[in-house]
Formats: sequence, structure tokens, C-alpha cells
Amino acid sequence: MSLQAELQQRVAAALCSVGIEESLAVVTPATDTRFGDFQTNAAMVAAKVLKKNPREVAAEILAHLKLEDLCQTTTIAGAGFINFKVLDIAISCEVNRVREDARNGVVQVEKPKTIIIDFSSPNVAKPMHVGHIRSTILGDSLARIARHLGHRVITDNHIGDWGTQFGKVIYGWKHLLNEEALEQTPIAELVRLYREVNELEEKDPALKETVRHELVKLQRGDAENLGIWKQAVALSWKEFERLYGLLDITFDERLGESFYNDALGPLVDRLLEEKIAEISQGAVCIFFPGSPELQEKPCLIRKGDGGFLYATTDLATLEYREMRWKPDAIWYVTGAPQQLHFEQVFASGRRMGVVTDLRHIAFGSILGEDRKMMKTRSGENVELGGLLNEAIERALAVVEEKNAELSRGEQEEIARIIGLGAVKYADLMQHRLTDYVFSWEKMLSFQGNTAPYLQNAYVRIRSIFRKAEAEGISVEAVPIVIADAAERALALQILQFGEVLHTVLEDQRPNLLCLYLYELADRFHRFYEACPILKSEGGVRSSRLTLAGVTAEVLKTGLSLLGIGVPERM
Ligand code: ARG
Repeated sequence: MSLQAELQQRVAAALCSVGIEESLAVVTPATDTRFGDFQTNAAMVAAKVLKKNPREVAAEILAHLKLEDLCQTTTIAGAGFINFKVLDIAISCEVNRVREDARNGVVQVEKPKTIIIDFSSPNVAKPMHVGHIRSTILGDSLARIARHLGHRVITDNHIGDWGTQFGKVIYGWKHLLNEEALEQTPIAELVRLYREVNELEEKDPALKETVRHELVKLQRGDAENLGIWKQAVALSWKEFERLYGLLDITFDERLGESFYNDALGPLVDRLLEEKIAEISQGAVCIFFPGSPELQEKPCLIRKGDGGFLYATTDLATLEYREMRWKPDAIWYVTGAPQQLHFEQVFASGRRMGVVTDLRHIAFGSILGEDRKMMKTRSGENVELGGLLNEAIERALAVVEEKNAELSRGEQEEIARIIGLGAVKYADLMQHRLTDYVFSWEKMLSFQGNTAPYLQNAYVRIRSIFRKAEAEGISVEAVPIVIADAAERALALQILQFGEVLHTVLEDQRPNLLCLYLYELADRFHRFYEACPILKSEGGVRSSRLTLAGVTAEVLKTGLSLLGIGVPERM
């Protein structure tokens, strides 16, 4: 059990003896480390229940607490906080346990859940835009963290491979296709077709009918149009796959919208039959009369002309997932503008009897330096492929300067890790709901809360180990002995690793993991300045080397849970 958990258990026991619900005992790291290492507000919560003075309740709780083997001091502060300053020996013991633990103190959940994570989900014949970038990075990190904690995770890329855009694409394919461009940059060529047909339609409104007819033919299963559609989807997939490969992201399933096509008609009919849906002005809707938010916002599932909608597909998808995986939760990682859509889908799902925990994991926008939605200079969506290439190129320029001695191949490999890591981290370090300004300079900086800063801390530790080996110093791990204040602070932060991941997953907030890792790297640097490692000797040197080694392990694992790699040198 972790130190924090151990303290919490003892506080719970003490609460019990003063007649209070033991679940009120919550121990957290101290907000002000001058007063202690951990704190609890249990006395304040209990005082409310007991209608007593919180400081008196704190004293009562303390009287029942047996902590000689764990704490140097316990104090009551402020309105009734209890602060614990832990014994150095207890920290040493605990950090040694974490060092020997293959999972560095991360305990898996007792009751694993089946969680479906629906993320990335770009649209075929349209480039992935920054919204898809955030979904991709965030969804992947959540999947990694949930798996690391022992949950059964199914990642599903719900791509938009069936929509009105295909009328334009098919018309364009038949009349305007540039085969060479299609071969070289398929997504860009498909988007060009889409845009060009759009423009033509504006000039010649009569064309709209012809284009719409291509769509209707596709929907009716016309062989030629289906063939074009299939090729367009396959080509787009190939390019998406290349980007996912670059980002080191995989999906268990890629059941796009088209997969649910045949289910839509029967689903709507059944919902009508079951009186969950009703006909309103020729369309089919699900109404939510009891809901203050949705009573004026019914969920439209079939248009007057018989066409189905985004929500219809999502309801069919929901039914399919329920049947196939019996999930405990489904997380939809999609931008905040889709909030109403998901509220309607979730409410409809509940009407259909779905009890699964459905969550819209929303996020804000990425802004350009002008604080408006990020766009290219010509006003188009920034496309993911181009963005990643630029990240790698910019990182390469930095690496060339810093590591002139390395081979070209090594430089490129390091640049890839740094460039991609920088983009991912810049996104994940923000609270997901805030809009943030995309800044190359900031994200590639080696100072501050950035991926390069964290990767650099890891690299520094690795280079200490290489140097030790070169000097014939033993790098074998030994029991760590905490003596200096900087060692103590670093060790305490290492011990928090086991706690932080659970908190991250509760609210789906990887930014808390970023913050944790930043603080870890920061405390490592302080330790590094205050406590010479290779210049010290004997047991002290071995202990410090070991402590640095555990720090490196936690940094590496933590970054990997954000989908970020570490180079061995940089
Ligand atoms: N393709 C959609 C878009 O680009 C996102 C799909 C999200 N997932 C879902 N099940 N609706 O906006």
C-alpha cells in the first residue's frame, strides 16, 4: 500500500473511533509543503456533521491516530487541516518498494471496466483538421492510461465514410480527376474534387441536381458509384494509416459510419413501433418532454425526404456496441461544438433502455497566434500531415544544432521523437476544455512545461548512467537512503505516480499527468543541483544513482502513457 493510502486508512480508523463515517477520510499531498507532506480535511468535514469546532475534532482525531512508525510530526493548521510530515525512513522504504515494482507503484483497479473509446474519427474525402488532431491525441492517451490501470479498452475509429460529400466526390471523380495526383496525395486530390464541384455548383445551380443524383445512385447501390466510393475510402484510409503509424496510434476497430448503413431503416421503424420516436411534420423525431434542456430540441432521426442523419448512425452504433461488447462506459472524444448532438443521442439511448455510462469527452479549439481558429495562411484547415512534418523539420533544426556530432540517421530519429512529442504534449498539457494558442516556439522550447524539457530530464539521467559505466562505477540498483531535502522531495513525487493516474482517468484529464511529470522533472533538476551524483562516493553515490534511475523509469512510463517517446540522447 502507498504511504498516502496507509495514512488514509489510519485516519479512517481514527474517524471510526470518534464515531464518524470512515469514508470521509481523504488524504492528499500537502498543498503547502512547508507544513507537511500530506494533509486531510477530514476533521473539517466531520465537524460539520457533528456540529462541533473543527480544530477540536482534529485534536480528537489526532488523539486516536497512531503514527509513530510513519510520521515525524502531525500538526493542526488553519481551520482544522491535519498535516503529516512523514519519516525519512518511511519514504526510503516506500520508494524502494516502488523501485522494485515493475509498475512503479501503479496499482490496477480492482474491478476493471469495459470502456469503448470512440476517437479520431476523421471524414473521408476531407482532410483531418485540428479538431481531429485533438481527438486523436487525447483519445489515444486516455486509452493508454485506462489500459495501464487494468481496464479492458476497445478503441474504435468511427470514421465519416458515408455522407453527402460523396455526391460531389463521385461527380468530380467522373469529370475532373487527376489520376497522378490521386496516386501521390489522395486525400488532397479528393478534397480538391470536393471543393471544385462545390464551386461549379455555385456558378451553375442546375448542376446541384446532377450531383445529388450521383449521391442517390450511390445510396441505392449503383455498382459504378459504389466502386468509386470504395476506392476513395480505401485511399483515404491508407493515408490516415500512415499518419497513425507516424503517431504510433492503433485502433482495435475501425467501424465507420457506412458499417451501420443497413441498420438505419429498421432501427427507425422499430423506434416508431415502440413509440420511442414519432412522426412530426413528415420527419421522425425522438422527443424529450421531461427534460428541461432538451424538451424543445428533439433528436431528428429521419428527414422528410427519407434521409438519415448523423444521430441515426450514432444510435445504430450505440446498439451495436451494446450488443457486441456490453460495455460499462463509452467515451466519445469529440469537440465541444458537438455537445448538443451527444446530449440528444445519450437521451435517446436512455429512452431505448441503454444504461451504459455514456460520456462526451469534449475539448476546446486550437487557436492560431491571432487567437482565432487555427487556419493556414490561405484560410484553409490546417492539415494534420503537414503539421506533423513541420514539427519534425523544426525539431531537426534544433537537433542539428545541439547534436552536430550525431549521424544524420540518429538526428532524424531524435527529431521525430521530439517533434511529435512536442505537438502531443502541447495539446495534452492544457485542460481539455480550454482553447489554446498553437505556438511552435513554446512547444519546442527546452525550458518550461514542454515535452522537450521532460525528454531532456530523461536524457540527462541516461547520460549520467553512461558516464558512470564509462568510469567503471557500478550502476546496479541499491536500496535508496533519503538524507537530503532535495532527495526527499524527489522521492515523494515519485511516490505520487501511483495516485495520479487514477485521478487523471476519473475526469479524463491527461493534463494532470503532464503537470505531475513536469513537477517530477523539476524536482529532479533541483536534486541534481543540490546532490552531486557521480562526484559523491560509496553508498551515497549508489543510492543517488538508483533514485535517478527510478525517476527516469517513471518519466519514461508517464510519457509513454501520453503517447510520447524518449530518445536516449539529445
Ligand atoms: N466524423 C465526426 C466528425 O468529424 C466525428 C465522429 C465522432 N464519433 C461519433 N460516434 N459521432 O465530426
